[in-house]
Amino acid sequence: MEQITKYLCRYKNYNFAIGDANAEYIDSLQSFEIRDSDIFLVTYPKSGTIWTQQIIISICELDGDLNEYPNNFEQMPWLEYTEGREDYALRPSPRLFTSHLTPALMPPGVKDKKAKIIYVMRNPKDNIVSFYHFSKASSDLETPKNFEHFFEAYLKGNVVGSSWFDHIRVWHSKRDEYNILFLNYEDMVLDLKAAVTKICIFLGKNLSEAAIEQVIEKSTFKNMKKDSKANYEFLPQEKLKGDFMRKGNIGDWKNTFTVAQSERVDQLLQEKLGDLSLKFIWE
Ligand code: PPS
Repeated sequence: MEQITKYLCRYKNYNFAIGDANAEYIDSLQSFEIRDSDIFLVTYPKSGTIWTQQIIISICELDGDLNEYPNNFEQMPWLEYTEGREDYALRPSPRLFTSHLTPALMPPGVKDKKAKIIYVMRNPKDNIVSFYHFSKASSDLETPKNFEHFFEAYLKGNVVGSSWFDHIRVWHSKRDEYNILFLNYEDMVLDLKAAVTKICIFLGKNLSEAAIEQVIEKSTFKNMKKDSKANYEFLPQEKLKGDFMRKGNIGDWKNTFTVAQSERVDQLLQEKLGDLSLKFIWE
């Protein structure tokens, strides 16, 4: 584990927050036993993770086969975090996991295409702004001097989760090796019902129209913000001074970015991911 800053360390080409990093545990994931019924949510940080957690958990709950845990963090734990970790081999199926990891660090067993992965991507301009605000609020992350500093660190990949561009590229380029559904945060904002329906179909959950409506109700920004199991206000105040659920909009970057910053992201997108023909919704 190579320490990069007071808050950041790198292991196998991936940046962890110091408090979350444990090389031995990350290595142990290489022999983590996967079940056919496992469901993984994978994202680059600040891409709609806790939102999609709420959707997946609500779908599985309504499908009637889920053990209850005190909150979404415990119900669908981050695979890579050691804090609060239990022996997941003892968890009843279906097990739900969250992760920000790259394919190389994931348990190889997910490649047999039986376990399911849902990958959510958010447009990088809103992603940067969300990450910037979260970095100011979280005690695990370095407080940015200003937006410009954070912007530069992010573009260099010197943040938790490393480079957004690399994360998107590596998961897309490996897509044939996994049973994986790709979703966009912006599509979810614009048509939550379509996203919930896609997730149900992918997970093989045949929910009634009324149950789908219930999932949507539980997952709107307004309702999730009031839901003590889902809004992450259960995190201790010394860990997070601010809201996990901040704005939940598309296009907030316009309030923060300069024209030059926006053009730099456009150019990098073209250079680094231009061949992937990804579509981005910016507002
Ligand atoms: S983390 O730390 O990586 O788990 O953060 P993550 O959950 O990926 O991203 C947080 C952003 O997701 C927004 N969010 C939502 N948007 C729309 N609808 C719902 N229900 C919802 N829930 C969470 C949250 O507000 C963060 O985005 P910003 O732009 O900062 O508001």
